[in-house]
Amino acid sequence: MHSFQIAPTEKSALWRDLLAAVDAITAGEPDGVANMANAAALLFEYLPDVNWAGVYRLVDGELVLGPFQGKAACIRIAMGAGVCGTAAATLTTQLVEDVHAFPGHIACDAASRSELVVPLVRDGVLLGVVDLDSPQVARFDGVDAAGCEALAALLVMRI
Ligand code: SME
Repeated sequence: MHSFQIAPTEKSALWRDLLAAVDAITAGEPDGVANMANAAALLFEYLPDVNWAGVYRLVDGELVLGPFQGKAACIRIAMGAGVCGTAAATLTTQLVEDVHAFPGHIACDAASRSELVVPLVRDGVLLGVVDLDSPQVARFDGVDAAGCEALAALLVMRI
């Protein structure tokens, strides 16, 4: 059993502890699927007000569902489609305060109201995206974006 003490009230400290936990649990493990699965589990368990946390992988030019926690989700997303496809196509973090206002948003869980998607890029090559959903409007801010980008930078070295 893995147990992590992650309960800071300050958001940047929470991301720091999450990063340390993902680092610890993936260190020395060569299996990328196992590492994505544990990263998704830690994000889902410790980030408050998140109803979906996981990874889409770039496979043959489209995003394909990877390890995640939350409701069953759409399996394939074209480059440029939805929030995930936009992050992948532009290689930029997408911070969406209200998904209803995002043209082309793909609703996997009708409860989702805000979303943060960070591209997974290693040596300039897109590997996929990390996707976080929340049932709260404007759940994510710049601190979450920076924290998730740091986590993505670690994860690409472990997948
Ligand atoms: N909402 C995403 C699709 C993935 S689910 O949220 C898990 C999008 O618009 O790309």
